[in-house]
Amino acid sequence: MCGIVGYVGRRQAAPILLEGLKKLEYRGYDSAGIAVIEKHSFEVMKRAGSVEGLSAAKNFLGRTGIGHTRWATHGTPTEENAHPHIYGRIALVHNGIIENMKPLKEECLKRGESFTSETDTEIVAHLLDGYYEGDLLAALQKTAARLVGSFALAALSLEEPGKIALARRASPLVVGRGEDGTYLASDIPAIAAEGMEIYALGENEFALLDGKSAHFYAEDGREIEKKPLEYSLEEDVPEKKGFRHFMRKEMSEIPLSIANTQQIIQSYPKIFELREVLCHAEYIHIVACGTAYHSGLCAKIAIEARARIPVEVAVASEYRYRDPVIQRNTVVIAVSQSGETADTLAAAELAKRSGATLLAVTNVRYSSLARLADFVLFTAAGREIAVAATKSFNAQLVLLYALAEELASAKGRGACGAELLSLPLLAKDALAASEEVRAWTPHFLGAKSVFFLGRGADHCAALEGSLKLKEISYLPSEGYPAGELKHGTLALIEKGTPVVAILTSSRLAEKTMNAVHETYARGAKVFLVTSLPEYRKRGEILSSVLIPDIGETYSPVLSVIPLQALAYYVAVARGNDPDKPRNLAKSVTVE
Ligand code: F6R
Repeated sequence: MCGIVGYVGRRQAAPILLEGLKKLEYRGYDSAGIAVIEKHSFEVMKRAGSVEGLSAAKNFLGRTGIGHTRWATHGTPTEENAHPHIYGRIALVHNGIIENMKPLKEECLKRGESFTSETDTEIVAHLLDGYYEGDLLAALQKTAARLVGSFALAALSLEEPGKIALARRASPLVVGRGEDGTYLASDIPAIAAEGMEIYALGENEFALLDGKSAHFYAEDGREIEKKPLEYSLEEDVPEKKGFRHFMRKEMSEIPLSIANTQQIIQSYPKIFELREVLCHAEYIHIVACGTAYHSGLCAKIAIEARARIPVEVAVASEYRYRDPVIQRNTVVIAVSQSGETADTLAAAELAKRSGATLLAVTNVRYSSLARLADFVLFTAAGREIAVAATKSFNAQLVLLYALAEELASAKGRGACGAELLSLPLLAKDALAASEEVRAWTPHFLGAKSVFFLGRGADHCAALEGSLKLKEISYLPSEGYPAGELKHGTLALIEKGTPVVAILTSSRLAEKTMNAVHETYARGAKVFLVTSLPEYRKRGEILSSVLIPDIGETYSPVLSVIPLQALAYYVAVARGNDPDKPRNLAKSVTVE
């Protein structure tokens, strides 16, 4: 994973690199480092922990430099393993994973070279220095040809102080040409500035940057022309606006994020072409990871119920290595908040290669996924900083539900979904009601395990509630289909085990209550999130939250809100930082 940044030009590089790295911390924050070239030597600072630890490096002198913020793949998150890796005349930063590191390392060891880190990247620095004969780009081309895996690489050489060489395979990399110099980064917002031209490196492409220009090369070494990307500067500077954490602030923005996203489909410029494709859609595959995968599960229920089109929902990391049956008239929907998740991108590429129409649902306008897809629907959730997805999940649901309605009308199944229009207001009510879960917190703090139970759409919400709790509170938890518990997992319920039941379907409520009885009978403490007031008074329920009723199909967009709040309050009570949970990053750019 990780984020990389670089600059060569008229200004001092270090402050630019530090600024860029702060914006890239969503890609990893377990260690960081920068290297600048000053008078034919490298000034280097690396630290375990976040980019803040590098603040003293802002005084480094030097107009060429590279930086890195890390999410550890090979090697623990220590200073030694932090990038840039320096070897001989070379400094190198890397986003990705080198899969053939073992034989390459053996080759270096045979030459008598020794290593100071456990990383795959240090091996690449050794290879690069070995191939270097006064031409950084040529050496990087030879090095890249030896690598198996994914990489965005940016390299400096002490012998060519005003240059940065780049290589890219399966990890994103953009180049910016500004007034004062040339920039590189893992994504556009890290470097974008007024008047800057931004270019995306394609698969297996290379670039050579100097202070005035950027030259791009294909895999075979041919120089290629590139068109600048269309982009606009982000207006919103992320601030906590009085909230203690970004996660809580982002939850407060759920109603707005829903309202803004509701406008998206109707004002989509390619709506007529999209309707044409939807009209002929016979199969739908949804590919995504994590929370976005849960949106896919919710969407399956809505699309199948409303449009009667079969939907397969797949975890992208599985789909990409299967041989999925992609038939004529299959629409593949790739859902990704960041639009940079490596597995989702690979699954989307596979779908495209196999002839499917690719529809992206993403929150990031200039993301790799948005550039890849035939159609792109943006969730208007605004920037999400907290690692745990909240408002972007609600926005994904609203967009996918609107799509379900489009599909239903394309298939002649009549317009419905009027209840969706009132969602922003209902989400406000759900948010207000969610404050009640704060009182549940003491029951969860020392729990050995926590269960979230539901059926149908409530089960999808249960999965998401459980994921939220795991990732920020670090409590073991499972989201489970209520009817499945008795087939083994019930053995885990003991006295005091917290169970959260989600109940929004009057059709299925009594069935879910069977599972509630079963857990209660074995000593569980049962909490309830429901839109059905009559169930609040049941004797088994220790405490409950009442959310507005929008019918079972679309209910997760509201029922998830108290679950997000529960995860937040439990995490804070356990002393965790919900914005930056351990071991995680906002965007998972390696497989
Ligand atoms: C959990 C969470 C992750 C992401 C997953 C996919 O709160 O945020 O599970 O949903 O890593 O990320 P995107 O949506 O950016 O593809």
